[in-house]
Amino acid sequence: MRFFKHATPQDVSREVAKKIAAAIRENPRTVLGLASGSTPVGLYHELIRYHREEGLDFSQVTTFNLDEYYGLEPDHPHSYHTFMKEELLDHINVPEKNIHIPNGKVESIAAFCEQYERAIAEAGGIDIQILGVGTNGHVGFNEPADELQPYTHFVQLAPSTIDANARFFPSRDDVPRSAITMGMSTILGARRIYLLALGTTKAPIIKKIMQSGITTRIPASLLRLHRDAEVHVDAEAAQLL
Ligand code: GLP
Repeated sequence: MRFFKHATPQDVSREVAKKIAAAIRENPRTVLGLASGSTPVGLYHELIRYHREEGLDFSQVTTFNLDEYYGLEPDHPHSYHTFMKEELLDHINVPEKNIHIPNGKVESIAAFCEQYERAIAEAGGIDIQILGVGTNGHVGFNEPADELQPYTHFVQLAPSTIDANARFFPSRDDVPRSAITMGMSTILGARRIYLLALGTTKAPIIKKIMQSGITTRIPASLLRLHRDAEVHVDAEAAQLL
């Protein structure tokens, strides 16, 4: 796993966006794995800038999002569907039919999860997976545990995740208690992974990811098993290293 420290959050966004833009220019049919959360917002805005000002073409790109809250309609103001549209997808020319985000209102969860994995395989697998990281080390919604699920699955959120994500909802009670998320094997199946972390709140987990052993108690530490994973952090997130 390669580690890159940048001075500012803007430098992180610019550097990773530059790599993704280059990959899309080289392979216009790139399959992107997308993450929600505040961390990749600057990166998404930079990709929008590439599209508007430098003609970066997403017309053949396919996207798969990592996760979605269970129980929220796609058009709910706090769903990851809404978040992705507002921060990226409504502002680039990726065709609607190429966009995949887990459905938080699906009736048969097991069938949906299998179908999501099949769709990723049929698209040829994920070329580039973008990740943030929870302060507890979760990626997507793969929460720390003794055992992890390999593929897309239903998950109960950790209390610390509910606390951390309450800032996006009117109150803590409004945060969904469960979600559908890609599994660690889905994520590790991506050809290249960029994990981004910004700010002082991420400094302790970045230290653990880089210096602790590989453990399911820190799901992001499993990225150290990947041959082409890069961690990009700003100075604040790197301050304990
Ligand atoms: C959320 C998401 C993750 C995200 C993480 C960090 O719960 N499910 O995909 O990476 O938490 O969020 P943030 O970037 O807002 O710190």
